[in-house]
Parts: sequence; structure tokens; C-alpha cells
Amino acid sequence: MSHDREPIAVIGTGYVGLVTAAGFAELGNEVWCVDVDAEKVAQLQRGEVPIYEPGLEESLARSRGRLHFSTELGPALEHARLLFVAVGTPPTYSGDADLSAVHAVVDAMPASDHHALVMKSTVPVGTGAAIKRVFTERGKSGFAYVSCPEFLKEGTALEDFLRPDRVVVGDDGDWAGDAVVELYAPLQAPLVRTDIRSAEMVKLAANAFLATKISFINEIANVCEETGADVLEVARGMGLDRRIGSHFLRPGIGYGGSCFPKDVSALKQLAGNSGYHFQLLTAVIEVNELQKRRVMSKLQKHLGSLVGATVALLGVAFKPQTDDMREASSLVLAARLQADGARVRAYDPVASEEASKLMRGVEFAGSALEAITDADACVLVTEWSEFAELDFAEVARRMRGKVVIDGRNFFDRATVQGAGLTYEGIGR
Ligand SMILES: NC(=O)c1ccc[n+]([C@@H]2O[C@H](COP(=O)([O-])OP(=O)(O)OC[C@H]3O[C@@H](n4cnc5c(N)ncnc54)[C@H](O)[C@@H]3O)[C@@H](O)[C@H]2O)c1
Repeated sequence: MSHDREPIAVIGTGYVGLVTAAGFAELGNEVWCVDVDAEKVAQLQRGEVPIYEPGLEESLARSRGRLHFSTELGPALEHARLLFVAVGTPPTYSGDADLSAVHAVVDAMPASDHHALVMKSTVPVGTGAAIKRVFTERGKSGFAYVSCPEFLKEGTALEDFLRPDRVVVGDDGDWAGDAVVELYAPLQAPLVRTDIRSAEMVKLAANAFLATKISFINEIANVCEETGADVLEVARGMGLDRRIGSHFLRPGIGYGGSCFPKDVSALKQLAGNSGYHFQLLTAVIEVNELQKRRVMSKLQKHLGSLVGATVALLGVAFKPQTDDMREASSLVLAARLQADGARVRAYDPVASEEASKLMRGVEFAGSALEAITDADACVLVTEWSEFAELDFAEVARRMRGKVVIDGRNFFDRATVQGAGLTYEGIGR
């Protein structure tokens, strides 16, 4: 198969770039990867994987012969016509997307009539048109452009690449769009072939909708707490309605990560910049911020003042199965706890190293049991599966206090209470 698969390039080897490279290499494509981070490239050349993503290391190792890593664009341009762009587009202070890395890539492209940029980075609607304008102004109008947004979820990213719900390809109907469609053909996924602006909007709208669903169920959870209903029962009853669906109806302490917060605010800003006030998203963002702080009032309810209290945080990555700490709820929570005078101890199975750089003054433990030892309260922040094995009798023996706040409704309430601990979930 590899003989008739066309070589591609991937620019930016972070979560999306590496998974895209690994996925296409599995399909038999030669992949020429480029990153400006020389240390990352050196690691990848040695066969080391700089991020934690289940199955990725094994996949890259399996396809090692088809993967090339460099800090130089030259080999990529020489071997591939399709250049997938997967550089970061973090939020600026105003909430707009920072496109400087995307523009650095655009600026580095030579004049060519047989190359195409295939945008995987999440960008505001109109970015493709702006890039095409730049190409034209600089005498590079032969450079083709395709929007191909990425929908992978960290933690199951490779599987999402190989079994996507859909592939979205936005283009101007030229060779490059056809080539991208052909590249994805072996995955046999539903295809949405559309114009560039609509493809750009699909990505932002999909993430904004998922975030809305989360904030919605979080508000239902908060009302459940006031009225004595159990949100887990409510979510089950709602989710079985096929028009609603059960996904993303899990109340908790707010969404985080590298995508939802920035994409929701980027869409809100994009609307605002175009003169439209996106009221719903303003509320979605505010509800999420308040939700991250609700744990504080739960702790205060049980402990009174937090001055001098020791609070253990179990799990700090923004979700399980990743080491990604971007916009993690734990960051807000740890800062709030410290500001109120609490001592914070944390444990995460994989994100501790990254987290310790970001969470100043937080003590990191080598295990969940070490983290909760002598703690007045413990908060489950990220529901890593290993926490399902916690022996609550041992937890009760080791803790100084009794309070367990289950920020993801993950523990079995009866088991926790059976050990003599005080259980508090979200919305129940
Ligand atoms: N992480 C996700 O779950 C996810 C999912 C879907 C879409 N996205 C989008 O994909 C894009 C990338 O996200 P990520 O999480 O992979 O980011 P990341 O920060 O993990 O990786 C970005 C990489 O790009 C490199 N880079 C920056 N400037 C470069 C340049 N000029 N040339 C070459 N390399 C350069 C960086 O060194 C880094 O390795 C973002 O737009 C993001 O919104 C991310």
C-alpha cells in the first residue's frame, strides 16, 4: 500500500501534529515532520516521544522507517506536496486566537504551484481567505490551501484519528482538496466537503456546542443541589433521549484543556469582531469559571476557614489519560486554596512533572495515599482510573479530616461513606 500513498509533511509536532504523523504513517504514508523546537526534534529523532498519549510511542516506533523529523522545511518541501499545519494557536489576552505561529509558517513558504497548506490548527473563520490573500500579494498565488480541522480527543487521539466520526475538508475545489480527500479515503469516514470558511466554522461550532453541553449540565447539577435531585439520575434520563445523547452530560468542576476554553472564547471574539454579540457563549464561559470555584464553598461548608488546612488534590491534568495541563481546573483550584491560606498537596499519575512547574507552592506526592496522608480534605479533580482502586478504609485511617469532595462524581458514594468519610459530589 505504501507505494501508492503519497508522502506528506506535518509542520508542528505537538499533540495534533504527532498523532497526524503517526496516523498517516500507519496508513503507509511517508511523513516529513518539521518543528521549530530543536530539542523536541532531537528527542523524536532518537525515538523518544515528548508527550503522553496512549499508544503513540508504540505507533511511532512501528512506523519509524516512514517518519522523518527535522527543524528544516527544505526536506518537507522537497518530498511532499501537502503540508499539514499543526502549530499552536493559543489565546491572546483579548481571547482572540494568536496566529503568529501560523503566520510564521505562511511566511516561510516559497512560491510554488504544486504545494498546498492543509490547516489542521484551529483558526478563526476567515483565516484561510486571509492566508490566500497574503500568498497572492507575495506572488505565491500558486500555493493551494485546504482547511482540514482536527477533532481528536487527547487520551484517545490515535483511535480518533483512525476512526473519526467525520472528516471535514474545506477547499476551493482544486487539486489539493481532492488529494486530501484521497489521503483520508482508507478511513472510510463520512466526509464533509465544503468551502474553507464553513470548514473553519465547523470546528469552532462543534467545540462551542460541546462546551455548552458541559456548562448546561453543570448548571442543572447546581440546581439539583438546591432542590434535592440527583444530577446523575437526571443526566441518565435526559441522555437516553436520542435528540440529546448521553455524551458530555457529566457534571463536574468545569472544562479545561487546550481546546474548549480557547476555542469558545475565540468564537465569541470572532462573533464580536464581526459585530454580533454571542450571548450564549458569554454565559457558557462564565458558568465554567464559577464551576471551577464551587469546590471552595463546598470545602468551606465542611471546614470553615481554610487557613492552615491541608487539602489534597487527586489528579491535576485537565482530564485523564493526558499530561496536558493547559487550562486545567486544578490550576484555578490550587491558586484559590493557597490564596485562602490552605496548604495544597497533589498527586497525578503522569502530569506531576509538568504541573509542578505551573503550580507554585504545591507539594507533589508520589501516590494518592501519600497525598491524602494527614489531609483535612481531599478533592478528586481528575478521574484517573487508578483512583477507582483507592482503599477508602486506608484513606480514612491516613487522613486527618473526613471530607472527600468528588469533583467528577467518580467515587462510589456508599463506599466512601462506609469508611466513615464525608462524601460530597457535584449535583447530588
Ligand atoms: N490538542 C488537542 O487536543 C487539539 C485537538 C484539535 C485541534 N487542536 C488544534 O491543533 C493545533 C495544535 O495543537 P497542539 O495541542 O498539537 O499544540 P502543541 O502546542 O502541542 O504543538 C504545537 C507545536 O508546533 C510547534 N511550532 C510552533 N511554531 C512552529 C513553526 N513556525 N514551525 C514549526 N513548528 C512550530 C511547537 O514547537 C509545538 O511542537 C491548535 O490550533 C489546536 O487548537 C488541538
